[in-house]
Formats: sequence, structure tokens, C-alpha cells
Amino acid sequence: MVRLDPWGSSQFQDYARLRDEFGIEPMTPELWMDLEDPHWLLRRGTIFGHRDFGVVHDAIVRKEPWAVLTGLMPSGKMHLGHKMVIDQCIDWQGHGADVTIAVADFEAYATRNLSIDQARALGIDEYVKTYLALGLKPQSAEIYFQSTRSRVKDLAYEFGLKVNLSTLRALYGFEDNTSLAHVNAPLMQAGDILHVQREDKGGPRPTLVPVGVDQDPHIRLARDIATAFRIYGVQVAADGRPGIFLKGAGEAKALLDRAERTLRDLGFGEVKRNDAYKAIYVDGATKADLQRVNLALAKAEPQLGGYGFVQPSSSYHRFMSGLDGGKMSSSRPSSAIFLSDDLKESEKKFMQAKTGGRASAEEQRRLGANPDICSVYEVYHGHLARQDDKYLNVVYTECKTGKRLCGECKGEAWNLLKAQVKEIQEKKAQVTQADLKEILSYS
Ligand code: TRP
Ligand code: SF4
Repeated sequence: MVRLDPWGSSQFQDYARLRDEFGIEPMTPELWMDLEDPHWLLRRGTIFGHRDFGVVHDAIVRKEPWAVLTGLMPSGKMHLGHKMVIDQCIDWQGHGADVTIAVADFEAYATRNLSIDQARALGIDEYVKTYLALGLKPQSAEIYFQSTRSRVKDLAYEFGLKVNLSTLRALYGFEDNTSLAHVNAPLMQAGDILHVQREDKGGPRPTLVPVGVDQDPHIRLARDIATAFRIYGVQVAADGRPGIFLKGAGEAKALLDRAERTLRDLGFGEVKRNDAYKAIYVDGATKADLQRVNLALAKAEPQLGGYGFVQPSSSYHRFMSGLDGGKMSSSRPSSAIFLSDDLKESEKKFMQAKTGGRASAEEQRRLGANPDICSVYEVYHGHLARQDDKYLNVVYTECKTGKRLCGECKGEAWNLLKAQVKEIQEKKAQVTQADLKEILSYS
């Protein structure tokens, strides 16, 4: 069995296997094709998998409220791989999402040996300022710190009611000597993810968490917690009948009355109520019907004393390979282009990047090279070509057919990348205290 380790440094190549083993669904085109101007990371398959993205898709299409929540662990410098999450957040703002971003200073404190102050400062200087430079719009985005948001800490504590040690061991491989601050990190992350569905943060609604696939254990945990705190279970029962089922104690009759009313409001005439089983069956309901019913009941739960958490959806992007062939990682400087680094230094690094080229120019002209294993091509693919598929195609074909040699190809890529990074650095230098104040929340 493979285990995904959010704190490890492993690299995942076998994305199909991840899907099969963990039940991550493939991000197929019908899930995003009808969206306006779908992002290149979707169109190019970089975002390869998801859980429950359909719920988000439907909210976008129906122009209903939906949220994006993601987080960053401020442990090192921000590199090109980190940029992909923010590119997505910015794009989703244009599709009606409100975006919330957690600076995981507690997680860095618990797992990376940084002080809270160090983590917070790093979060602002390396990440938050860059996010603004990249174009994250403060009108529909908020960035906060785990350490100063009581709502999140309170939820993390409360979630402990429904999570036991053996679950955490199975998910994360925690050992007897794992510190409790570290053990608490997944609960804190569930708090991050679900607190945006509290009434004061917009209430229950579809919530997308865009992350790298190493974060999937946290997503599974948050999804289970969301369900554990629901009043109503909307599902297909063991006997195959779809319906609404009361999950906990409480005023069963009143709760069933409320659910029955919701069903009728939604236009379901044929419902069969069974008070002894605390159930209302909706025979013939499709998956889409249940989704609609679930959302309506989730929205009703806060008035009934619950949270009404809608299970969070997630999307997973592929990791960028490092320039040296391994994983792109802050801990190996030669592997990454850092957005705040001196351009001269980055240029040197980039020119030494591993390519899919042949041993000699002559051989490459004759046989062509291999863009599929080339870290420079990956930069074209993920950052330089942006929406311009034609251009990307030219690079790909010219590489394959030997028309393009690595030296000139790198030079061309570097010119584009340099311009991009330079612009980010210039914009970052212009970020003012007032800009930060507008997007940051300390409570
Ligand atoms: N654990 C994440 C990381 O290591 C950071 C994070 C904290 C996060 N809270 C989150 C990611 C909520 C997504 C959602 O990068
Ligand atoms: Fe990579 Fe360009 Fe060389 Fe092809 S020609 S292998 S894309 S650097």
C-alpha cells in the first residue's frame, strides 16, 4: 500500500494508481468544459484529479455561492510549483468563488521547527505579497493565520470529538513519539477547510480545496468530519433506497417535518416518511436530486442547531518536477526557481536545468528530443504558454522533430520566465501596508 505523507518529500509519478487506490476521481473534461475560459491547468491535465468537483461545477454554472479554501505552510521560499495553487485561486475568483487562504503558521510551528513569529513573517513576505503581485483580488479574498483565528482553533478542538487515534495513525502513520501538536495539525486543517461554512463566513455551501495530492489524507479526514457533524444524512441506504436519514439524537419529529417541507419545496411529491426509522425515502431520486436535497438541508441545519457542513470538494494538481529532475522543493535550492530570488542567480540555475535533449546537437536534429521528460518544457506547459495552446504545440512539435535545440529553447523559455518573474518582483515591491491590511485578517 502507498501512503500519502503530507509532511514527507516523496514524489508521485503514478497518478492513475493514486486514483485507483484512494478513490480520487479523474478530472475529466465534462467537469469543466462548459465553464467560461477554463484555466490552462485544467485544460492541460495538470489538475488531474478531484473529489466531488461536480458539486462545485454545478454551483458555478447556476451562479450560486461557493468557496475556495486553501492554505500554505510557510516553511521556505515560494517557488514556481507553489504558484500553481494561486493561479487557480485567482481564476476561480473570476468564476464566482470567494477565496480564503490559511497561513499555516501553527503547522509550521508544530512540524517545521519555526517560531510562530518566523512563520508569520515568512508567510507575509514570501507568500502573501507574491499572491497580491500575481493578481489575487482582495475584493473576494481573505488571508488569515491559524494562530490568530479562534474560530478555526475552536473547531479543531471540537472535531477531536469525532476523530480517534487509530484513524489518525492509519491516515498518517503517527508513531508513539509523534508530538500532540503535530497530531493536532490535521484537525486544525479540517478547521481551516470547514470554518468558511460557518454562518458568519458565508454559511454552508460547496467548498473547493485546491491542493497537491500529498494533502489528500487531510481532505479525506475533513470530509469524514463534515459528515460526522451533520444532522441529516442524505444518501442511498444499505437497502438501495435513496432518502434522508436522521443521524443523531434530537427532536426527530420536528427534524423530519422540516426535511419533509424542504423536499416538497424542492418539488418532490412522492416521499415516504418512516418516523420509527427516522427516515424519509425519496424513491427514484437521482444522484443529482440527492445533491440538491443535501445542499438545501445543509443550509437549513444552522437554524436547527447544527453546522450543516457540505463535504468539501478538492482538486489535485501534479507536482512540478525540479529543474534537477527530482521534486521541486524549497529544501533543495537547485531544484526550484524561487520567485524572490535574484534573476541572475535564477538564470544560472535555469540554464543548467535537466532537459529531454540528446547527447549532441547532430543527434537531436536527426532523432528529435523528448519534451515529456523535460523540466524546461514543464515550465512552458505550466507557466509560460498560459492560455496559448498553439504556442505550446509549436514548442512540443519542434522539440520532437529535432527542429529545436535545447540551448535556444532554454534561452527562449528564460526570456519569457524572466519577464514574468520580473513583473512579479516589481509588483511585489509596490505592495503597501494598506494593501496587506486589506487582504489580511488577524482574527
Ligand atoms: N498542510 C498544507 C501544506 O503543507 C497547508 C494547509 C494548512 C492547507 N491548512 C490548509 C492546505 C487548508 C489546504 C487547506 O502546504
Ligand atoms: Fe526540452 Fe526544449 Fe530541449 Fe525539447 S528542445 S528537450 S523542450 S529544452
